[in-house]
Amino acid sequence: MARPKVVITGGAGFIGSHVADALVREADVVAVDHLKAGKRANLEGALKSGATLRKQDLLRGDLGPIFRGADLVYHFAANPDVRLGREGTKPLIDENILATYRVLEACRGAKVPKVAFTSTSTIYGEASVVPTPEDYAPLAPISIYGATKLADEALLSAYAHTFGVQAVIFRMANVVGGRSGHGVVVDLVRKLARDPKHLEILGSDPGTAKSYVYIDDVVAGISTGVRAADQPVSVYNLGSDDTIAVRSLADAICDELGLTDVEYRWTGGAGGGRGWAGDVRVMQLAIDRIKSKGWRPRKTSEAAIRAAAKDAWASVGTPKPRA
Ligand SMILES: NC(=O)c1ccc[n+]([C@@H]2O[C@H](COP(=O)([O-])OP(=O)(O)OC[C@H]3O[C@@H](n4cnc5c(N)ncnc54)[C@H](O)[C@@H]3O)[C@@H](O)[C@H]2O)c1
Repeated sequence: MARPKVVITGGAGFIGSHVADALVREADVVAVDHLKAGKRANLEGALKSGATLRKQDLLRGDLGPIFRGADLVYHFAANPDVRLGREGTKPLIDENILATYRVLEACRGAKVPKVAFTSTSTIYGEASVVPTPEDYAPLAPISIYGATKLADEALLSAYAHTFGVQAVIFRMANVVGGRSGHGVVVDLVRKLARDPKHLEILGSDPGTAKSYVYIDDVVAGISTGVRAADQPVSVYNLGSDDTIAVRSLADAICDELGLTDVEYRWTGGAGGGRGWAGDVRVMQLAIDRIKSKGWRPRKTSEAAIRAAAKDAWASVGTPKPRA
């Protein structure tokens, strides 16, 4: 049987490059990325094993030829920052909603049968049921990022039912691990590299309590969900079985890096422990659905944070974390 062709948008990013590594043995992998956040270096291993990289902005040009002949598209490209940047809301609308619309149009034109999509826990907003299951309602995001991802899910559902492009949607907790360029672990590790004695932390002590999931678990979960999906639209939460507060997370990072007597300086943030407006205070996803397909997270939130801290430190530099 011919090897399947898979296209990974955002393939030079954190999650995309790890999925490329996992797929390259069994499929012809085409990574598509404009390389603004993503890096060619992230794909070094996959490229050596036969993957190809197309430098392309999904917001420009004719995307049709990229997707022609694809058996499966992993649409991961996005602006992944929940916290609004200085540029405001428009980049999120463009890079998340408009780019997804253009990808779906190209998939429809190229008759791509299946799209896997990285959605997020933030579509649930401040859920009254925690751990939050996939059928929780009402879906009321409190961040622009969450709103864009919910809009994407609506588009995916409509393209599945109208044009037959099957959708597999992964609503993920905070994903951490090597090659990540954003998020609390990377932020805190970079700050500690600059000043190992003081640590500025967004929010107020003890901070938000959220679920963190390690990249290896996410790659395995996406593989499980894609294989199991048998509906026009399948939705899977992906996360760990617990939460960790930001204070404990900072303690775990300092401990993992062998740093003692670090003075924490809380910024106060947006109140109620939130680091910024739009930050959810408590997040844990019910993961029974993906577990029923045979997947289990191997790491707790704390174990994921510790492993990710080591990964981040290795890319930042001195001093050395504990062996
Ligand atoms: N990391 C997390 O904790 C997390 C949690 C939930 C969902 N997600 C989602 O997972 C996906 C991957 O996130 P990530 O953490 O790997 O982020 P990332 O920034 O490392 O990867 C995204 C990649 O997409 C590329 N990209 C963005 N816009 C593009 C465009 N218009 N054209 C071409 N390339 C473009 C970037 O260059 C980058 O390489 C995103 O959809 C994100 O919203 C991430």
